[in-house]
Amino acid sequence: MSLIKELDAFRKVHGGNFTRAGITFADNMVTYALNKKPWRGPLYVDWEISYKCNARCTYCDSWKVGMESKIPDVSTEVAKKTIREMGVRGVWLLIFTGGEPFVRPDFLELVKEAKNAGMNVSINTNGFFLKRDAQKIVDLGVDSITVSVESHESEVHDTVRRTKNLFKMLSEGIEELKRIRKQKPAIKVRMEIGRDSYKRAKAFIEYWQDKADGIVLQPIHEGIGKDIFVMSEEMKFKTDDKTEFDKEFSLLAKQYSWMNNQYYQEFSTFFFDKEELYKKFKCYSGFFYLQIDPYGNVYNCTEYIANVGNILHQSFDEIWYGQKMNNVRKMIKEGTNTCVCHYYCTGPVNCSMSKVFGNTRKDGAMLRTHSGKKIGLSVDAPMSNHEQR
Ligand SMILES: C[S@@+](CC[C@H](N)C(=O)[O-])C[C@H]1O[C@@H](n2cnc3c(N)ncnc32)[C@H](O)[C@@H]1O
Ligand code: SF4
Ligand code: SF4
Repeated sequence: MSLIKELDAFRKVHGGNFTRAGITFADNMVTYALNKKPWRGPLYVDWEISYKCNARCTYCDSWKVGMESKIPDVSTEVAKKTIREMGVRGVWLLIFTGGEPFVRPDFLELVKEAKNAGMNVSINTNGFFLKRDAQKIVDLGVDSITVSVESHESEVHDTVRRTKNLFKMLSEGIEELKRIRKQKPAIKVRMEIGRDSYKRAKAFIEYWQDKADGIVLQPIHEGIGKDIFVMSEEMKFKTDDKTEFDKEFSLLAKQYSWMNNQYYQEFSTFFFDKEELYKKFKCYSGFFYLQIDPYGNVYNCTEYIANVGNILHQSFDEIWYGQKMNNVRKMIKEGTNTCVCHYYCTGPVNCSMSKVFGNTRKDGAMLRTHSGKKIGLSVDAPMSNHEQR
């Protein structure tokens, strides 16, 4: 029941096309349970189509990586080919992210290709270019848009994101989309929760709840495989912060029913007791989702834990059915990955699946952390590095 509820919530956020989602999800699940060869691709794919960005957020170095990298982003031609291949393989949802997707000149061409290939399209954006491209977004039938917002106050937002006028631009973009859309895209705002920002979450929710179709909170964290998600020492919670955080956050969860789920319940565990999180949830990456970086590298998950191929010289099927992918699936199934993260460990798929299959991760395996640089998942593939081809 909870799985159906979670999936329905997921569908509401990411759009319809539920038959395709259902078939792909069922195949992913059977692949996991029976160790069979997958028939369909993963339920969803996150694609960072460029690390370039017009903003300079305090906890994200994507813009810097995008600016300094000598490697070109995957070409339009290769990107479109891969999109078509994912469509044929039954991928349900393609999430375009970055960097800032709208900075890439051919971005809307890629969106069009994805819609033509039968996939739902979701876009993560800082919102700066939403107003400029609103009509095209609606015309292309984009299913959902998630706009990153830090606050209900423009000054706070622009300061955290170190970008002048960003709050004004994203607000106008959201209003324009709402004005011209018939139904789609669904518009969510996503706030990053950290040591400072959780204190303004209530005001944030009150301000945004009538202006957006949904609100998502996400914990600020350090990336594992790449130095893109970064945190200064001041941003990190200290043990002493737990009592205050728990009090504040549980009050919020009582007040807002959409926060009444495991994902939000585990925020405190993620911030203050990752060992516990690791013991509680199993990972399903490589079965239900994949990640592609701007240079065409394909990973089992958003934390770039295992590089399983590259679309510059492999077809999607060659990667999905390749030996490296099979090795990752085997390790994930056996629970020998030594990492933990919040989105997949406590995301809708994992919470529900962990209830169905239990957590079979190996006891005592050490966590791999960004600062500790402990490497735990070896798949006969080089570990990630953003300069790698
Ligand atoms: C990397 S951004 C790319 C899309 C777009 N530029 C944006 O800002 O939404 C995707 C999401 O990652 C979030 N993010 C960036 N750095 C983070 C960090 N250190 N911890 C958690 N989330 C982070 C952003 O706030 C955004 O919601
Ligand atoms: S979070 Fe998004 S907007 Fe901010 S620097 Fe990173 S990619 Fe750019
Ligand atoms: S638990 Fe590890 S392998 Fe699984 S999604 Fe999180 S970081 Fe990736």
